[in-house]
Amino acid sequence: MIPQPYKASEARYGGKMRYRRSGRSGVLLPEISLGLWHNFGAEAPFARSEEMVRYAFDHGITHFDLANNYGPPYGSAETTFGQIIKQGLGRYRDELFISTKAGYDMWPGPYGNWGSRKYLMASLDQSLRRMNLDYVDLFYCHRYDPETPLEETLQALVDAVRLGKALYVGISRWPLEAAAVAYRYLRERDVPCLIYQGRYNMADREPAASGILDQAQAEGAGFIAFSPLAQGLLTNRYLNGIPEDSRMAEGRFLKTAALTPERVYALRRLDKIASGRGQTLAEMALAWVLADKRVTSVIVGASSCRQLADNIKAMDSQAFTAEELAEIDLLTKAF
Ligand SMILES: NC(=O)c1ccc[n+]([C@@H]2O[C@H](COP(=O)([O-])OP(=O)(O)OC[C@H]3O[C@@H](n4cnc5c(N)ncnc54)[C@H](OP(=O)(O)O)[C@@H]3O)[C@@H](O)[C@H]2O)c1
Repeated sequence: MIPQPYKASEARYGGKMRYRRSGRSGVLLPEISLGLWHNFGAEAPFARSEEMVRYAFDHGITHFDLANNYGPPYGSAETTFGQIIKQGLGRYRDELFISTKAGYDMWPGPYGNWGSRKYLMASLDQSLRRMNLDYVDLFYCHRYDPETPLEETLQALVDAVRLGKALYVGISRWPLEAAAVAYRYLRERDVPCLIYQGRYNMADREPAASGILDQAQAEGAGFIAFSPLAQGLLTNRYLNGIPEDSRMAEGRFLKTAALTPERVYALRRLDKIASGRGQTLAEMALAWVLADKRVTSVIVGASSCRQLADNIKAMDSQAFTAEELAEIDLLTKAF
C-alpha cells in the first residue's frame, strides 16, 4: 500500500483547545503542549511517536517541546521529530511552535555541557539539522550555569535570534536572582525572554513558593510547567502497583522509591476527588496547574494517544471549590 501524505484534521482548531498569551508577547500557546523527553527516542516505535505527534496537532496542540539530549540516545527525540516533520508535518511549519534547549550533558569533552557560547551555538546548529528545520521558534538555556558569566550565556541566546536560528528565547530552571539578570539583559537587547520553564504540579509547588511565577509575570514573561503530572505519579497509573510498561518500571527517572504507602494512600484519595469532579486524576492534576492564571501552558508527556486524549479533557473543568483545594493541599503534603 502506498502511504498517503499526512493531512491534518480540518477540525484542529475547532475542538476543546484554548490558547493563552505568553506574558506580554505576541505568542499564543495551547494550554496543553506536548513534550518529547520520554517515549520519542530511537528505542521507541517510530509509528507510535508519529501517531502521537499527529494526534496532538490534529487536536490543536501546536507547541512541541524538545531538547538536544532527549532520547535515549541523546539527540534521537529530535531525529524522530525531524522525521515526522519530513513525513508531512513540515507542511504545517507556520502553524507549529517548536522549542529546543541546550544546557545539560550532550557530547563528550569540555564543549558539550553547561552554558558557554561555544556549546549553545553548536548545539542549536545540531538540533536544527536533526529536526530538519531552518529555525526553532524558541531556544532555551536549559539550566543556570554558576561558572559561566551570565552575559556570555545570554548573549548567545540574543545572537541565536539575530542569526535567525530562533525566533524567541527562554530560560529553564534558573534561580530567582539569575533569572532577574536574564530578564533585564535580554530586554535591554530587544530580545525579551518569552517564557520561563519550570516544574510545577500539585505535589511540587516550588515556582509558586520561590517567587519564580510572580517574577515571570512581573517581567512580562510567560511560565510553562513541565512534568505537570509528576512524571505520571499524579495519574491513575500507580494506584494499584507498577505497570510493566510504565516510566517507573523503566526506573531511570521515576524511581519505585517514590511510591511510598503514604503516597499511594494520598493518590487514591486524590483519585476520589477527581472522580467526584467527573475527571480522571490526570485531568484534575492538569486542571489544577491551569487554574493558576500565571501559567501559560502545561507540557505533558505521553506514551499513547489515549493518554493525550485524556489530558486534553483537562480543559473541560478548571474551576475548583475551596473544599477541593483544601483537601488537595492536605493530601499533596505527603509528597
Ligand atoms: N526543562 C526541563 O528541565 C524539563 C525537565 C523535564 C521535562 N521537561 C519537559 O516537560 C515534558 C513533560 O515532562 P514529563 O514527561 O515528566 O511530564 P508528565 O506529564 O508529568 O508525565 C508524563 C507521563 O505521565 C504518564 N501519563 C501522561 N498522561 C497520562 C494519563 N492521562 N493517564 C495516565 N498516565 C499518563 C505517562 O507515563 P508512562 O510513560 O509511564 O505511560 C507519561 O509519560 C517533557 O517531555 C519535556 O518536554 C522539561
